[in-house]
Amino acid sequence: MAETTLLVSKIKDGTVIDHITGGHALDVVKILGITGRTKGAVLIAMHVPSKRLQTKDIVKVEGRELKPKEVDKIALLAPQASINIIRDYQVAEKQHVKLPKVIRGTVTCGNPACISNSNEPVQPKFYVQSQEPLMMKCHYCSFLMEKQDILKQF
Ligand code: CTP
Ligand code: ZN
Repeated sequence: MAETTLLVSKIKDGTVIDHITGGHALDVVKILGITGRTKGAVLIAMHVPSKRLQTKDIVKVEGRELKPKEVDKIALLAPQASINIIRDYQVAEKQHVKLPKVIRGTVTCGNPACISNSNEPVQPKFYVQSQEPLMMKCHYCSFLMEKQDILKQF
């Protein structure tokens, strides 16, 4: 992208979630629990050109940092995302999200009959078989979960 164009302005203090898989910015906004009534500036860019990906989305949130659980959820939808903590206009920390091979606790199994959905104290557990497109398999019932199944839960 030409250096002469700045698509969305820089922020002063907060978090920039960059290199989000194109089309998933609004899912990230939802994961962060941001609604129209949330205070603080939120800047969203969708399907912008990217050096690394074909197109990417960006979400900039002024005045807050992310919780580990939120980062885990973002990793499922956008395994290439980077989380930049901005302090006084500078990138103070840069973290690349990582999708673990085994997912525990972040999502529940889509099979209603799965033991992890019963009253038994069994924590959901999945094995990631493919990152993009996302495909993960339940440890207990072998149910295959795709991105669409996961999005419904967020
Ligand atoms: N950013 C911002 N406000 C700031 C500083 C940075 O919105 N005050 C944004 C930049 O626009 C960019 C992201 O935070 O989208 C990361 O900034 P930086 O590390 O400077 O950019 P790159 O070097 O392009 O990052 P990467 O190597 O991760 O692509
Ligand atoms: Zn299951």
